[in-house]
Amino acid sequence: MTASFALEPIERASTDELRALQLKRLKATLSHAWRNSPVYRAKFDAAGVHPDDCRTLADLAKFPFTTKADLRDNYPFGLFAVPRQQCVRLHASSGTTGKPTVVGYTRNDIEMWSHCMARSLRAAGARPGDLVHVSYGYGLFTGGLGAHYGAEKLGLTVVPFGGGQTERQVQLINDFRPDIVMVTPSYMLAMADEFERQGIDPAGTSLRLGIFGAEPWTNDMRAAIERRMGIDAVDIYGLSEVIGPGVANECVETKDGPTIWEDHFFPEIVDPATGEPVADGEIGELVFTSLTKEALPIIRYRTRDLTRLLPGTARTMRRMEKITGRSDDMMIVRGVNVFPTQIEELILRQQALAPHYQCVLSREGAMDSLAVVVEVRAGLSHDTPAARQAMVDLQHDIKAYVGTTARVEVRPEGSMERSMGKAKRVLDLRPR
Ligand code: DLL
Repeated sequence: MTASFALEPIERASTDELRALQLKRLKATLSHAWRNSPVYRAKFDAAGVHPDDCRTLADLAKFPFTTKADLRDNYPFGLFAVPRQQCVRLHASSGTTGKPTVVGYTRNDIEMWSHCMARSLRAAGARPGDLVHVSYGYGLFTGGLGAHYGAEKLGLTVVPFGGGQTERQVQLINDFRPDIVMVTPSYMLAMADEFERQGIDPAGTSLRLGIFGAEPWTNDMRAAIERRMGIDAVDIYGLSEVIGPGVANECVETKDGPTIWEDHFFPEIVDPATGEPVADGEIGELVFTSLTKEALPIIRYRTRDLTRLLPGTARTMRRMEKITGRSDDMMIVRGVNVFPTQIEELILRQQALAPHYQCVLSREGAMDSLAVVVEVRAGLSHDTPAARQAMVDLQHDIKAYVGTTARVEVRPEGSMERSMGKAKRVLDLRPR
């Protein structure tokens, strides 16, 4: 049975209808968490709140936040609100330190997630009969299987390639002629390089559309990918703690930031320092509450992603501005806050540079120092006047637009390690 390509009624609903549905689902979620998860019950009790205290959507602000630490402290299944036996799937995020974060899904959760992913694909511009090449990693990471179930639900043909084996990916894209690719933006660039290496024009492939996410990427990067690949590039957002990919997705007709599937995930923006909610339109930390999840209801989850909420355009549901960065990725260099995305925008202005880059932090004496290591454009030697000029220009732009001094190092073509999933944009070599 294939899903319909028409908009669902809720995607056209009025804001009043949507808010009423959200409130009903929010009350049910809070009560489910309180009744069935001892950890949530203890958290609510400690904060002196009860699900009955939620009478309006604004009352949600009375409830305590959930953080990654809550998931880690209750590793592996402690936050679940159903017996593990009722879960049909587990995923986990590796995390750089300590234990992974484990999430579980009931059969209904998988159904809801696939539904949101199918909706995301449709918003991105998928059409009946499309062939989808999935290069997000399969396994504990939610990217591969999330994309896969959504595409199947929509009735599309899926090639479950996963990450890695770039040479074969490119061959298969050439042979199978997919319409859509789903991959991290950084890995798309690595694949574009491989097309060129094999003597294939990346802009001349069968691909029409790319659905990119799992890491921050700028609108300048979008323009660069669209030009190079000859496709539409749209943004998909999600995180495993909330469900996986498909919490929000950009509509291809507007490409103005992901529309949040608000009937399933309620967004708030809070001041990262105080935790106080801020108004729509103001920048802060994105916080999500799930409205329909069974196995792991998530209440006011602090994503650490920085953005703001914007009014709906292609849909009535609100949008989020393209993520500028994670608070974890923010570098403080001599008192100035710097995000890798700011550096990325400036790199993309330089004709002689390729957007394969990393920000390296080290300490010289008492001072922090930032080096931006970036690759020269394909076909150019890094030891030419053009490359040297790009180095000088980029250093100048970083000082002028970001406000900090950085040393720029231009490396030869192919010398930067290619990510096959999420790119690691910050390398912190400072002693702890
Ligand atoms: O990255 C889920 C996903 C898979 C999303 C495939 C999109 C495509 P996690 O591994 O739990 O889940 O990482 C979630 O990745 O909090 C953001 O910091 C970042 N992230 C995800 N999508 C975007 C995006 C998946 N479109 C974390 N733009 C999130 C910027 C993103 N950052």
